[in-house]
Amino acid sequence: MTITNDLLVRPATEADAEPLIGVLAEAFHDGPVADWLIPDPAERRSVYYRYFKDALYHGLAHGQVYTTSDHAAVAIWYPRLEPTPTDTRGRLEALEHIAGAYAPKFVLLEEMFDVFHPDAPHHYLAYLAVDPTRQNQGIGAALLADQHRRLDQLGLPAYLEASNMRNRRLYLRLGYHAGPTIVLPTEGPIIWRMWRGAPTTSGGRTPFPRTRPRRRSL
Ligand SMILES: CC(C)(COP(=O)(O)OP(=O)(O)OC[C@H]1O[C@@H](n2cnc3c(N)ncnc32)[C@H](O)[C@@H]1OP(=O)(O)O)[C@@H](O)C(=O)NCCC(=O)NCCS
Repeated sequence: MTITNDLLVRPATEADAEPLIGVLAEAFHDGPVADWLIPDPAERRSVYYRYFKDALYHGLAHGQVYTTSDHAAVAIWYPRLEPTPTDTRGRLEALEHIAGAYAPKFVLLEEMFDVFHPDAPHHYLAYLAVDPTRQNQGIGAALLADQHRRLDQLGLPAYLEASNMRNRRLYLRLGYHAGPTIVLPTEGPIIWRMWRGAPTTSGGRTPFPRTRPRRRSL
């Protein structure tokens, strides 16, 4: 457990699942990607609870999930020390079950993220969410700082996709650099790919790696 900015940051377990699914679904409910995925807010809410239940349990089983002692926030990270193949058939079936008629947009989103994912070793921030009633109090930055400390000790970079200009600003302040963007099809929003390099001996950070788009998999 780490105390950052007076907040206790700790690994999450299955006992934390219910409140953290709510934090994810509510925090991601508004914004350009949400509007693009499911225009109707009521339908979006029910799909999002199913989507983030799946995302949280996947993170607990295969990644690293952190929260604060009061469940105000959650971060889901995946170590990607080598290129990771996707179980395309299984994912397609899961998304159809979770999102029904909206599955094709979710498939497209995940596929675009996958195609442009860097191959160089790093930890991937899949989701960061702060309870909407607790945002702008430094909690998101504290959760990031906690993981950045660990990554700097390990000499590993971090990678994420920023979904709007506002959270992009937060990441830029915390040492990330923006790489080439992803533009989602059919008048979809812009996604900023962001990289926080590993510390170098000269006091800098390793640059954003060149990424060759992978073959589309889904
Ligand atoms: C982005 C987010 C994780 C930041 O956590 P936070 O505790 O609110 O942020 P902090 O108080 O540590 O830092 C404040 C900065 O966060 C960003 N931020 C705050 N609220 C935000 C929101 N609703 N949406 C996007 N960014 C937000 C801004 O950059 C803000 O600084 P600025 O307005 O002065 O530029 C949180 O606001 C959130 O969950 N937003 C909705 C989901 C989201 O966008 N997640 C990130 C996906 S890449």
